[in-house]
Amino acid sequence: MTTFSIIGTGTMANAIGGVLADGGSSVTYIAKDEVGTAELSGDVVVLAVPYPAVAGIIAAYGDRFDGKTVVDISNPLDFETFDSLTVPVGSSAAAEIQAKLPNAHVLKAFNTTFAGTLVGKTIGGLPTTVLIAGDDATAKQALAAAVEAGGVTAIDAGSLSRAHELEAVGFLQLTLAASEKISWTGGFAVAR
Ligand SMILES: NC(=O)c1ccc[n+]([C@@H]2O[C@H](COP(=O)([O-])OP(=O)(O)OC[C@H]3O[C@@H](n4cnc5c(N)ncnc54)[C@H](OP(=O)(O)O)[C@@H]3O)[C@@H](O)[C@H]2O)c1
Repeated sequence: MTTFSIIGTGTMANAIGGVLADGGSSVTYIAKDEVGTAELSGDVVVLAVPYPAVAGIIAAYGDRFDGKTVVDISNPLDFETFDSLTVPVGSSAAAEIQAKLPNAHVLKAFNTTFAGTLVGKTIGGLPTTVLIAGDDATAKQALAAAVEAGGVTAIDAGSLSRAHELEAVGFLQLTLAASEKISWTGGFAVAR
């Protein structure tokens, strides 16, 4: 059984934690005021926080991330303009996190699935699909297995370099929902 520590207690923390718990995984949550003091007990740590909060969390835990799988779920938008990402052009939040945590296995996942589609496990009549990018095959397989056990489809989307494309998809989907062209329970589905 994979064990998860989810940093954050908000909408996505609960949606992701619900799927993982449905699949029989052990899930513990770390609230904002526990960051740095609560133990990272899980083999996998999910950063269910806004991207600007990640730097402080990395500073608080430092080398306690070593050897862990770290899941970045963020869509690092400039929320003032809704017109660009805040990460360097061609890069991604996940790549920036991996550079700061060279001894962890960083995965990008969940950023293309609105919380409501994880809770409902369907989108437009299709199963909800979590796209996972990362460089460590074992880490990706463990996350995919835990997600699938919880009743949500998972697909290996390639190396961590694909986080750039996943963040572009997440960015577009967010702008469509924020401008009320799609609903927050809609978005991009994956048909196979
Ligand atoms: N919502 C979605 O459908 C969706 C979909 C895909 C990806 N995402 C991504 O998921 C992440 C979380 O979004 P959300 O919708 O779950 O947001 P949310 O409901 O506002 O929850 C954010 C969580 O992060 C915590 N937090 C905020 N600042 C922090 C800090 N400096 N240090 C530690 N914890 C901090 C908050 O704690 P407090 O409540 O105590 O402030 C809260 O528990 C974001 O990166 C977002 O881009 C969201």
